[in-house]
Amino acid sequence: MDLDDVLTGNPVLPVATLPDVESALPMADALLAGGVSIVEISVQTTAGLTAIRRLSRDRPRLVVGAGALRSPDAVEAAVSAGARFLSAPGLTPRMADALASTPVPTLPGVGTAGEAMNAAELGFRAMKLFPAVAAGGLEFLRAVAGQLPELRFCPTGGINPGNVRDFLKLPNVPCVSGSWVTSDAAIRSRNWSEIERLAKEAAALR
Ligand code: 3PG
Repeated sequence: MDLDDVLTGNPVLPVATLPDVESALPMADALLAGGVSIVEISVQTTAGLTAIRRLSRDRPRLVVGAGALRSPDAVEAAVSAGARFLSAPGLTPRMADALASTPVPTLPGVGTAGEAMNAAELGFRAMKLFPAVAAGGLEFLRAVAGQLPELRFCPTGGINPGNVRDFLKLPNVPCVSGSWVTSDAAIRSRNWSEIERLAKEAAALR
């Protein structure tokens, strides 16, 4: 699994914040049934790391990454749990060191052109734009494509079925990320058929 596989394997990279580890397998099966083969599990809940470990063991067909990483310790724990890619909401010097030294692909978060340039100087060629819509969304990405054409962004934060197609049309956006496919509401109500339906829609976007 390299960075290109993460960026181009699926047009939508669902982000899931799991309230309990029991949700992990049925959610994964709904995604796979809908044709989505990747998920980012947030480590913001205590179930997150355990879910990454369980999915890595029991659903190897699903590429499972870890998101919302904020410290080098969290990076190490995610990789030990089996995460196959990592993402962070932003990039600090400590996080840059930690992410640069992991064996798995990483998507650090940036919110401005300066942060994107800094990430590029540190060797990151793809990054999350977070929070995407609040940070300028489509207009930001169009403007940056002109001056920093070599950079690729996975916008996250505020992407939804209504605007996702516009983001995916941009030349510097190989994929988008967001929580609408694996929403808190669907997971908490164990509405796996809704997740499968939304996964099918997402998988058909490109
Ligand atoms: C994330 O955790 O990556 C984002 O908060 C997802 O943003 P969204 O809920 O607006 O899709």
